[in-house]
Amino acid sequence: MTTPTLDIHLTADDLAAALRADVLRGLTAEPKWLPPKWFYDARGSELFERITELPEYYPTRTERALLGRVAPEIARAAPDTEVLVELGSGSSEKTRLLLSALSEGALKTYVPQDVSVTALTAAATQIAVEFPRIAVHGVVSDFTDTLHALPRGGRRMIAFLGGTLGNLTPGERAEFLAGVHEVLEPGESLLLGAGLVVGPEILVPAYDDAAGVTAEFNRNVLHVLNARLGADFEPERFAHLALWDPVNEWIEMRLTATADLTAHISALDLTVEFAAGEQLRTEISAKFRLSGLATELAAAGFTPHRNWTDPDARFALALAHRA
Ligand code: SAH
Ligand code: TRP
Repeated sequence: MTTPTLDIHLTADDLAAALRADVLRGLTAEPKWLPPKWFYDARGSELFERITELPEYYPTRTERALLGRVAPEIARAAPDTEVLVELGSGSSEKTRLLLSALSEGALKTYVPQDVSVTALTAAATQIAVEFPRIAVHGVVSDFTDTLHALPRGGRRMIAFLGGTLGNLTPGERAEFLAGVHEVLEPGESLLLGAGLVVGPEILVPAYDDAAGVTAEFNRNVLHVLNARLGADFEPERFAHLALWDPVNEWIEMRLTATADLTAHISALDLTVEFAAGEQLRTEISAKFRLSGLATELAAAGFTPHRNWTDPDARFALALAHRA
């Protein structure tokens, strides 16, 4: 194998400055909120991997089965792909199916990108062992603001799997898709994995499992604030809440203060008060309809090519080209 290379566009200092700015903005706002990328320190990435194995969390296994079935068709629809760039690649677990299919064609390079340096390093090393003929070039960056720093050269497919698109607000999503369109050259492609709208009896347990792993994942953001900003949150005094919003068609994750609570954040010299029952929004996970997805892709300048869905219509893969 060839040893993977790693580009770091986000140093520990950059991350610390961005975290301070986000926490100051989010925790002094009314209502309080935090952006989801801060879930993913080493512990958060591990907890997310445990979520993907939970019986209630259907998205990962549904997307994996779908990719297993249609990866060859995706590869045929983007036949000259030389570079697979994957945004928010995490463990790159399902990506193997795509790498295998694209390797039958022109694929030479895999570029996993993630904000979690631990998850990225482990995944890049493992993929390099399993796919000795593919060069692995990892990028540590934030996909919401550094897409232009992705390596160029060779015809690319950008993959964004796992339904992470749904973790962006509609405005952020439009900006993100336009940004992806801007970095692509004519003829290159985008493969999106998106959770579809299904009944709340299926959706809600997927984000509020019986074993409490998702609750622990949600509270992990408070552990991150304690470790990186010298805060003194008592995470166990916040309860996990997952709500289906039928108007926006998204799941909203919140942390509810179980009593009147105060936390001090040393790095910001900030004291934050929570009234009993007060809620902090930590994430949304929007679910999509195929028509809406096509409209959003077209609005960003893409030409939608084809969608694939699982037999229960819970998850979709959408391939689009840059005209
Ligand atoms: N693609 C994987 C992981 C999904 S979890 C899968 O399908 O299972 C979301 C991933 O996106 C995590 O690995 C997290 O670290 C990463 N992530 C979240 N916000 C990010 C951001 N702003 N920039 C880069 N990566 C981000
Ligand atoms: N991208 C994942 C999703 O929206 C992230 C996720 C899964 C998540 N479970 C979670 C985020 C629980 C916060 C809390 O499905």
